[in-house]
Amino acid sequence: MPPAPSGSARAAAGSSRPEARAERAAGRFERQAAACAVLGSPLYAGLLRHAARDLRAGGVVARVLGEHLDDPGREALALRLLGGVHALVLTGRAAGLAAFYPSAGGTADPGPGAGRAWRALRRVLAERGDEVRPWLERPPQTNEIGRGAALAGALCHIVAEADLPVRLVEVGASAGLNLRADRFRITGPGAAFGDPASPVTIAGGWQGSPPPAGPVDVIARTGGDVAPVDPLSDDGRLRLAAYVWPDQVARLARLRGALVLASQVHADLRAEPASVTLARTALEPGTWTVLWHSVMRHYLDPAEASALDAGVAALAGAATPASRFAHVSLELAPGTPDAPVELVTWPGGRRRRLGTAPPHGIPVTWANPG
Ligand SMILES: C[S@@+](CC[C@H](N)C(=O)[O-])C[C@H]1O[C@@H](n2cnc3c(N)ncnc32)[C@H](O)[C@@H]1O
Repeated sequence: MPPAPSGSARAAAGSSRPEARAERAAGRFERQAAACAVLGSPLYAGLLRHAARDLRAGGVVARVLGEHLDDPGREALALRLLGGVHALVLTGRAAGLAAFYPSAGGTADPGPGAGRAWRALRRVLAERGDEVRPWLERPPQTNEIGRGAALAGALCHIVAEADLPVRLVEVGASAGLNLRADRFRITGPGAAFGDPASPVTIAGGWQGSPPPAGPVDVIARTGGDVAPVDPLSDDGRLRLAAYVWPDQVARLARLRGALVLASQVHADLRAEPASVTLARTALEPGTWTVLWHSVMRHYLDPAEASALDAGVAALAGAATPASRFAHVSLELAPGTPDAPVELVTWPGGRRRRLGTAPPHGIPVTWANPG
């Protein structure tokens, strides 16, 4: 997760004029608004533009933000604020605003530029700012179910290479929901993977040349994260839902389905860095050990990144035809909008770029197996 602002950064920012501080914060909110617009949340884009205007006018947003006003952009303060508000909506404590939030069943027209919804949000901040403030202290934490579509397809390629049961290991697993990716239902042109009755259905999740068909038998699921979220606790479930943008109902439906799946299919999720997960991973005869990670590598400090690479190299070196090892990743590459779905299998070290996927994971466009 991004580091907290240093005391000196806060002190330096704190010494400048209030108007300048508000202006800088408003600029950060506007940049987040632009990102929300591009990433498919017109509601948040509109709300954040209003919030930026309110910041410049010294309104309620500045009062709720308090000393956080100077937090650097990497802290994603706007999303922390809106996550706290969304939690109020989802727990029935902000009925006026809920009317505009599809995540809570709201169907009211938010108005041009989300003006009507903004007036409701402003009331929530004025009346319940104290309940939102704790959310400013912790980073947004998501677990993108769509990214599991890449893992599910990669598992099909792996068992097509050697038909053995799979022991799945994930680093940076968040709530570990994608450790159940083999239980998702995923469809696309000419493709249908998984149980049609699965609580997680990703229609149109696969495009291009479908992965090989065939059952995938996952016999063990374990993962780690430095800040794991318990998908079985009320608090964990609320946190995960609160950071999904409220007008992205399909994304929220996938999350809710994955939470049901998490209650049905056990996974061992531990509070530990990637280096520790790798250190406790060993290959077992008669199985594939599959190490998977998505959109986490850029969070690693150099020591953790080296430990991940060294751990992969050690497992690769230990692989035999009986005890196989595969490394699957979906990591954002600088300068490109989509992430490659990479697979390497051992023994042999055969490396394949299986396809590409956007940051939220779907649709995966599978490459021609050539
Ligand atoms: C953007 S989230 C992605 C979560 C999940 N992989 C997904 O795709 O939904 C990045 C995750 O990496 C975790 N993380 C950051 N540094 C880590 C480390 N050194 N070891 C393990 N997890 C780490 C964070 O806590 C966070 O859950």
